[in-house]
Amino acid sequence: MLEKKIEAALNKQVNAELWSSYLYLSMSYDMDNKGFEGIASWFASQTKEEFEHATRIMKYIGERGGKVLLMPVAEVKQEWTSPKEAFEETLKHEKVVTQSIHNLMDMASDIRDYATKSMLKWFVDEQVEEEATATKILEKLTRIESSPAGLYALDHELGKR
Ligand code: FEO
Repeated sequence: MLEKKIEAALNKQVNAELWSSYLYLSMSYDMDNKGFEGIASWFASQTKEEFEHATRIMKYIGERGGKVLLMPVAEVKQEWTSPKEAFEETLKHEKVVTQSIHNLMDMASDIRDYATKSMLKWFVDEQVEEEATATKILEKLTRIESSPAGLYALDHELGKR
């Protein structure tokens, strides 16, 4: 059985993953409205990934005899001034998620919950990838900041995801 403290913290992480999904969905629609179809499609894929992250934790809570609590998902921003601003916020948000996963890992270590640690290991690795991807795209966006042709090409590239 899951300890109540870790069960509550995992449910909070489920909510954070669902919020992430909601955030990227909002970015996807905003980018589409601004004519960046490829970037919109990239964020649409990201939305699905975040939903899968939430699902992964919910499945685990169930397997350990816990109860999934679906709490309200807070409102997200609706507009960004540019793709660069959206990716700046993406990277900032992913860093917060990484910290949250690390805090969960600390909690699981403290109570010697090895199964939860094992489940969380996947998320630790995933966060490395998520931050690296957002950083790479942000670097590209910074490099092509004043080049419409560059932005067009990057939009096309990200649409292939
Ligand atoms: Fe589920 Fe982007 O962290």
